Amino acid sequence: MRNYSLDKSKIKVLLLEGIHENAELFFRENGYSDVECLNGALSGDELEKKLQITHIIGIRSRTELRRSLLLKTPKLFAIGCFSIGTNQVDIQDAKMLGIPVFNAPFSNTRSVAELVIAEIVMLMRGIPEKNALAHQKIWMKSFNNSVEIRGKTLGIIGYGHIGTQVAILAESMGMNIIYYDIEKKLSLGNSKPVASLNDLLKLADTVTVHVPLTDLTRKMISEKQIAVMKKGSCLINASRGDVLDYKSVAEGLRSKHLAGVAADVFPQEPASNDKPFVNDLQDFNNVILTPHIAGSTLEALANIGLEVAEKLVRYSDTGSTIGAVNFVEIALQANSSKQRFLHIHRNVPGVLGEINHYFSSRGINISAEYLQTDAEIGYVILETDTDLDPLVLKDLKNIPNTIRVRILY
Ligand code: NAI
Repeated sequence: MRNYSLDKSKIKVLLLEGIHENAELFFRENGYSDVECLNGALSGDELEKKLQITHIIGIRSRTELRRSLLLKTPKLFAIGCFSIGTNQVDIQDAKMLGIPVFNAPFSNTRSVAELVIAEIVMLMRGIPEKNALAHQKIWMKSFNNSVEIRGKTLGIIGYGHIGTQVAILAESMGMNIIYYDIEKKLSLGNSKPVASLNDLLKLADTVTVHVPLTDLTRKMISEKQIAVMKKGSCLINASRGDVLDYKSVAEGLRSKHLAGVAADVFPQEPASNDKPFVNDLQDFNNVILTPHIAGSTLEALANIGLEVAEKLVRYSDTGSTIGAVNFVEIALQANSSKQRFLHIHRNVPGVLGEINHYFSSRGINISAEYLQTDAEIGYVILETDTDLDPLVLKDLKNIPNTIRVRILY
């Protein structure tokens, strides 16, 4: 039996913006020898020139891959965003060019959860205010506004990756957990779901928000919801800035309805560290403000390096698109006993028929075929028993509506 293998020495990998060394190591351990790593971001002609010869690019948040540039990347077949978000890439355009984009949405889940736990303790002990006064030479030794978290109720809005981690950690410190989620979730530990957001707000001593920003969650905590919260309760937001109406939150602090707030995310966040930061909560001593760093730890950075590199290598090696943000999903193991082709095309009737006809009319047996489509593209992986000349690729590319073709091995 023949043993097919991908010639990885011909695949150029470019990693920009000081991506964690885990990524380079993972590529090299998996046989990719042409890996170039640069500390800075690239833009303009410099980036365009590099992209002429690059097959896989890894970026963080400062390198932009817009449509006009993507149109000039003849060899590029995968993009790795070593970040949570993918706003720096025109992902829809990348899709239509047959380029899957991968990211690392959950590498920093634990980091966010740990900070939230710390903030629950800090807020319920009234530490931010005492700390601020101590810096002003004021000694505020007092039992006031200071309770243990043990036995208190934590209300979690959004019981997803982060919400569940927070629940487990908080429960192990003795808190009672209630949560509200629009989807039915499996409760972990002793966490209890509540029927409505208002039920949660009424019962919780501290409320923490872990939902994505959607039409439903925009300003989901506003004047009305704060009024429902217990007097003297605390509020934490490490999700997205627009989920809270910070003017109403400031009002809640001014009236002392809220005892403390921690906010990591804001509707307007400065684009860089040298730009000023302005928010309605800056006037209050009992508020912890952090510059969107809930997920920013060295461990998260290392996890991101590995998570995205794994997804890129899996795609490059097997064609599997697991974890791509803009692509239909095919999950496949490598199969070195067959020759494997990837064909990405516009999803119009007849393309698959033409591909199959191409092989059958030449007496070539297709031993396996996997197809996934969405409204715009079709992605087919097929395997043959016969050794085919790579020139077959040229013919497959000529099939009308073809976007991209690769022969893996
Ligand atoms: P996830 O997708 O795992 O969980 C979100 C949960 O919210 C899901 O269970 C979903 O069903 C629920 N949900 C959605 N709409 C809802 C609604 N209207 N009402 C109640 N529940 C609703 O997301 P994950 O990873 O837990 O992240 C949560 C948030 O944290 C996201 O907004 C994310 O962007 C943010 N985040 C912030 C970071 C930071 O540095 N501050 C770092 C990482 C994530």
